[in-house]
Amino acid sequence: MTRRTATLVLVIGLFWGCSMTQTVPEPESPGAKLYLKKCTQCHGLPGPKRHTAEQWDHLLVMMESFMGEKGLAFPVEEKKLIRDYLHRNAR
Ligand code: HEC
Repeated sequence: MTRRTATLVLVIGLFWGCSMTQTVPEPESPGAKLYLKKCTQCHGLPGPKRHTAEQWDHLLVMMESFMGEKGLAFPVEEKKLIRDYLHRNAR
């Protein structure tokens, strides 16, 4: 490998690394994926550690009504998946 290629690989690696810092716990789980998809529609992603399980329950009810106002669907199965995910990873 030439020195130039090595530098390029390093730079790409660094960018990749940085983009990964925005990840959440259990990034491969269905709950995390849904969380990333659903909860970034109106604002940035809140870290699961920002709130306790009880606070998340309350927040999810709030978010559900915001979604209702905007005409966005939030089916029970999805809510349950996100709720379980947040409970596992809450503060
Ligand atoms: C339909 C738009 C919408 C969607 C989708 C949405 N939110 Fe929100 N969210 C809001 C609005 C609007 C606020 C600001 C409410 C306020 O500060 O009064 C907010 C604020 C928040 C806050 C900050 C509350 C605080 O204490 O400052 C959290 C945490 C949050 N949302 C979590 C979520 C989660 C988790 C989801 C996914 C289930 C989600 N949101 C999806 C509209 C949305």
